Amino acid sequence: MKKIKGFRTDFLWGGATAANQIEGSFDKDGKGLSSADFAEYIPKEKRQADNHMEVNSKFIDKVKSGKYSGTFPKRYGIDFYNTYEEDIKLFAEMGFKAFRMSINWSRIFPNGYDSKPNEAGLKYYDNIFKTLKSYNIEPVVTLSHYETPFGLTEKYNGWVKREVIDHFIHYAETVFERYKNDVKYWMTFNEINVINISPFTGGGIVSDRLENPIASSFQALHHQFVASALATKKLKEVIPDAQMGCMLARMKHYPYTCDPNDVLKAQEEDQMNLMYTDVHAKGKYPNYYLQYLSKNNIELEMKDEDLTILKENTVDYISFSYYMSMLSSTSPEGKTTPGNLMNSLKNPYLESSDWGWQIDPVGLRIVLNEFWDRYEKPLFIVENGLGAVDEIENGKIHDDYRIEYLRKHISEAKKAVEDGVDLIGYLSWGPIDLISMSTSEMSKRYGYIYVDQDNYGNGTKQRIKKDSFYWYKKVIESNGEIL
Ligand code: BG6
Repeated sequence: MKKIKGFRTDFLWGGATAANQIEGSFDKDGKGLSSADFAEYIPKEKRQADNHMEVNSKFIDKVKSGKYSGTFPKRYGIDFYNTYEEDIKLFAEMGFKAFRMSINWSRIFPNGYDSKPNEAGLKYYDNIFKTLKSYNIEPVVTLSHYETPFGLTEKYNGWVKREVIDHFIHYAETVFERYKNDVKYWMTFNEINVINISPFTGGGIVSDRLENPIASSFQALHHQFVASALATKKLKEVIPDAQMGCMLARMKHYPYTCDPNDVLKAQEEDQMNLMYTDVHAKGKYPNYYLQYLSKNNIELEMKDEDLTILKENTVDYISFSYYMSMLSSTSPEGKTTPGNLMNSLKNPYLESSDWGWQIDPVGLRIVLNEFWDRYEKPLFIVENGLGAVDEIENGKIHDDYRIEYLRKHISEAKKAVEDGVDLIGYLSWGPIDLISMSTSEMSKRYGYIYVDQDNYGNGTKQRIKKDSFYWYKKVIESNGEIL
């Protein structure tokens, strides 16, 4: 076999975003509310809950009453709704081959369950795709990225109810039909595993309205799996040459020590993370998961055809986010550190970001190799990046820390390719500064492009190219040879 050298020539370099973190204009042109519009910014020193992405009924009622005066940054984003032309132009200047974005479901169906789509919402994405096309940038589209229409929360308590599957398929079919000449790469649910970590974020579910929230989150997950498979089926009917991917927040678990009990624990925790891609890629629930459900007395309600639907409609590629790795221990006495969606024990071999996330580039090579061994389907890194505080010095941002993070991760991805893995693209998270998903902060910046805006939405919104902008441009130009 010929020795592989570097990334494939059609490698999809670019960046990834979500509608609710950039667009703003949350109530313009007929858009309805979504779960993201309830995400409040609370300064770190005042945050009480660990899982601050969750909301309860009381809070929802307060916000709905209009008597609550909090800051909801995802409602105004970075104004991409109005600035997309100039922002996409900047992506093109970096040489982007692909741009990941989501369609804001409640822009198309304001309540989620409406029978007719909102033409103004559809038109907006027509314009985005037209702009991307003019620069030869391939759109990679997520159908649902933490923006469940709030109408579905009100009517069904989100994905807990099976009816939501039909509404999702109606939405999916509508956008497949409309954009069949524009979009080839699709994904259904962003980080589908989040539904079991933050049910409101992942599925518009208000947990205190449920008798058994944990069991309900697994039931809701089943509905999302079926919806995802049905959307895949529909996609192939409407756009036969399109590709459907899944989307997992990959959290690789290492054993804390070489004690076989820790190794076993890490294996179990890793399985519970890979379960989601197992279902998407292999089309069935793995035995270890079915046993987990039984041991926890969770019985899924299924229709006869569900398992066949899963079996017959698996994904074409495995897409995932990767930010950090985790540790598993049977005697967790060590120091913990915050992480993407979950805390972890602190790994003494790794450095952490300003937000405590453990930086592990080699972990990316491990993860890529494992995915490839397990599924033998093309892999696509659709999120990776460093959230950091940036300072402006004489109008410039010298973000060498971000360059270092990205350089090391891309370099490990390249080694994985040379190990024999089929990797089709790399999309870094937040190519332009955007609102943080977990904390709704603006000061947690991922971009190559700085946005002059603070945590309360004040600022000129001016776009400034950081040092990483010029660096990434060279990376793309050289197809990852100059890092
Ligand atoms: C991923 C999400 O989990 O991580 C993104 O898909 C999110 O929406 C990203 O923005 C980074 O997380 P955060 O909390 O730093 O914005």
